[in-house]
Amino acid sequence: MKARITASAAYAVADIDKRLYGSFLEHLGRAVYTGIYEPGHPTADGSGMRRDVIDLVRELDTPICRYPGGNFVSAYNWEDGIGPKEGRPRRLDLAWRTTEPNLVGIHEFADWAAKAGTDMMLAVNLGSRGLDEARAFVEYVNHPGGSHWSDLRAKNGRKDPWNCRLWCLGNEMDGPWQVGHKSAAEYGHLANETAKALRGLDPTLELVVCGSSHSNMPTYPQWEATVLEATYDQVDYISLHMYFENYEKNTAEYLALPAKLDRYIGTVAGIIDFVKAKSRSKRDVKISFDEWNVWYHERKQDAERMKSWDWPEAPRLLEDIYNFEDVLQVGCIINTFIRRADVVRIACIAQLVNVIAPIMTEPGGPAWRQTIYWPFMLASKHGRGTALDLAVEVPTYNASAADRVPWLDIAGVHDGDAGTLTFFAVNRHASETMEAEVSLHRFAAKGVEHTIIRHDDLEARNTKDHPDRVVPRAGSGARLESGGLALALPPLSYSMVRVTL
Ligand code: AHR
Repeated sequence: MKARITASAAYAVADIDKRLYGSFLEHLGRAVYTGIYEPGHPTADGSGMRRDVIDLVRELDTPICRYPGGNFVSAYNWEDGIGPKEGRPRRLDLAWRTTEPNLVGIHEFADWAAKAGTDMMLAVNLGSRGLDEARAFVEYVNHPGGSHWSDLRAKNGRKDPWNCRLWCLGNEMDGPWQVGHKSAAEYGHLANETAKALRGLDPTLELVVCGSSHSNMPTYPQWEATVLEATYDQVDYISLHMYFENYEKNTAEYLALPAKLDRYIGTVAGIIDFVKAKSRSKRDVKISFDEWNVWYHERKQDAERMKSWDWPEAPRLLEDIYNFEDVLQVGCIINTFIRRADVVRIACIAQLVNVIAPIMTEPGGPAWRQTIYWPFMLASKHGRGTALDLAVEVPTYNASAADRVPWLDIAGVHDGDAGTLTFFAVNRHASETMEAEVSLHRFAAKGVEHTIIRHDDLEARNTKDHPDRVVPRAGSGARLESGGLALALPPLSYSMVRVTL
């Protein structure tokens, strides 16, 4: 199959915000306990944090990590996680029907984030709680001193404020499953009043208001319009979430789902413009796509197990084991974000460790990289710079999610400082090699490298005993030609092609 692509520095979408490669860690299952925190583990540091996990997170180079939830945050008392550990309460977590020991709270997470080389993106509870607890939390985290909450932080061992800039105003408040779920009007009012109060404390905060938890939600897209009309002048981002499933085991249908993601982003971008015009505002609100991933391998079984369990502590929950097919999907999802980098400024893979995550751990044992670790890591490390608006001519197919889905999914990033032009490409076709001619309009190419992820078995997985079944390798499908690049991308493959300029 043939494709023609033109890349030109003159056709730029936007400078990519590095936070497009954000992540997420929730008090859920084994994400925190035996995920990042396991005192007694052979690699644990003095604070009980697993160094093997910190190393893998550092290698991912994820610039922000959203915390502490997720659904968990909507019934969470942040004060339960401060002060001497012996005095912290054990609480029943209503989101996942588990017991939360509160051995990790804001101090432990902030220390871990610094070690892992990531900034915090914190969420306040607007489900079971409200404005007052949110302002106390922000004061505790960001105020220099001389007030009740900031002095308590110092008493608890942290004199300097953490200065967390990015705050989520609740989580998935459109979801009836959420503790303290609200209508769009109720939530819009509360979010606006909370945002005003938080800005009163610290005008430099960046605030994220909840949009829809999926474009399948019955309240979508009216939810976005109502919430933004109530909050437009107080918020910086609207949060969207989407998870991807392949219950039918139909690869072409599965890999077409990012077209739905693209439509979702386009629709919400339109609503932002509508509300901006209606509010006669000069401000720009952008999208924070702060939960996305493949989630279906264990989903139904988990929902069944949860019904009958007796408030366990750190159970195995949402531990999807990803396969090679999911590498292709994650590649297409990230490409969608890069192509929409003008409006999607923040995105967080959900989640980071053990829970629908690129990193897995065994209690007392090793930590390893799931298959999806690799496309995320390659994009996070090499997908920084300016997103290009590529002209792509390639045959398409019709799927349930959308018509005219291109068999080749490709995104291009120009990094002027590094002198590189990087393409991330997924050949969605099951049997045909993609022969692509890439014209590099006015880019003077000096060299090219091809990195490929491919496996004969779509179901191939990385496991504790076989952690390297699916890994990137050097490819041979890219060569420079006069004025361009010739690519030969095998069927069902993920590629990164890096041109040095
Ligand atoms: O990431 C798992 C869950 O998915 C989160 O807690 C929630 O926000 C979403 O529904």
